[in-house]
Amino acid sequence: LDNGLLRTPPMGWMAWERFRCDIDCHDDPQNCISEDLFRDMADRLVEDGWKELGYEYVMIDDCWMSKLRDEQGRLQPEPSRFPGGIAKLARYIHDRGLKLGIYADMGTHTCMGLPGTTLDKIEIDAQTFASWGVDYLKFDGCYSNPLEQMLGYPLMSLALNATGRPIAYSCSWPVYVGGLPPVVNYTLMGNICNLWRNYFDIQDSWDSLQGIVDWFFNNQDDLQPAAGPGQWNDPDMLIIGNFGLSLEQSRSQMALWAIMASPLIMSNDLRNLDNGARAILQNKVAIAINQDPLGIQGRRLLQEKSRIEVYWRPLANSASALVFLSRRSDMPYLYHTSLAKLNYNPGNYGVYDVFTGSTVTGLNTTTLFTISINPSGVVMWYILPEHSKKTHTHHHLHK
Ligand code: GLA
Repeated sequence: LDNGLLRTPPMGWMAWERFRCDIDCHDDPQNCISEDLFRDMADRLVEDGWKELGYEYVMIDDCWMSKLRDEQGRLQPEPSRFPGGIAKLARYIHDRGLKLGIYADMGTHTCMGLPGTTLDKIEIDAQTFASWGVDYLKFDGCYSNPLEQMLGYPLMSLALNATGRPIAYSCSWPVYVGGLPPVVNYTLMGNICNLWRNYFDIQDSWDSLQGIVDWFFNNQDDLQPAAGPGQWNDPDMLIIGNFGLSLEQSRSQMALWAIMASPLIMSNDLRNLDNGARAILQNKVAIAINQDPLGIQGRRLLQEKSRIEVYWRPLANSASALVFLSRRSDMPYLYHTSLAKLNYNPGNYGVYDVFTGSTVTGLNTTTLFTISINPSGVVMWYILPEHSKKTHTHHHLHK
């Protein structure tokens, strides 16, 4: 969507995967969906170095709403859990240089059964969000049919634009119609949405993550061309820092989400994050690869019989990223290859290993090398061509 927003994938934090629809503030005050939770996360983003790395959105998901609209037909937050209201929360977040995301549903109800945004409510809800100072809308699609979705998602895009407030627009439409062409029109999606959920929700497990990765790369011919500045595929939240992933698997998610030009939206407890997870999520080179200005989504190049897979993404300034993923569960695997085998143009390259920080210079495309990849882990490389500075090359080119 060409509204000037999300020229690189959004980065931030979202409540859903970690905190779900926990509305029990009596017995679980630390973890329930309330204004305190979002203020806490905003504080953490600012004080623990996330914001300066680009993590700027604080996103409310389902279960913020009251069961009823107000007398004027507007959505309203559940007053016991959001006593200050959303506008005040938005001010708190803006005062800290962050942005606020909110959730609504194109349909009669949200997925958790709260008031939905039917076609007749699209305009008023867009206006309400804008009046509160919301910066991002996740528009889910439970409890609607394909015809209503076909009308509702473009209408919300227009309604948000008509508010005059820049509001990034995330559409869950593709998920509800199978995620693939010809049913999903990704040209249309790119015109009306800044990002879109294509596939099922991530859960806190390596199994769930692998299912998502397989689906996205098995369908890369349909999905990869749809992405670009202002329009992103969304394979769902980062679950790094929760309970389901080992350290190796956490690196794998960060690496693959960078290759996919995916939103980097954490859903974890930033108040209780171990240093391993923190280091992965704050890895500057992985973030830079994700945020590359060209915005070209990467692709899977190879699936070896050995269950090693190779992923690649082209980056600005002739740079590129490679990820070697092991789907094995035995021991570190020694993988032999060369840059020539991975379609690199002849020449010498400099390599930076994103998670170990080690470097190699003068790696010729023809040179066979061996890397060791841990079970369910990755090796991730940032690669730059080493330009020959010999003047005869220069003369040759300009003769
Ligand atoms: C759907 C979405 C999730 C989350 C829940 C909330 O399942 O895909 O990301 O928003 O609804 O109910």
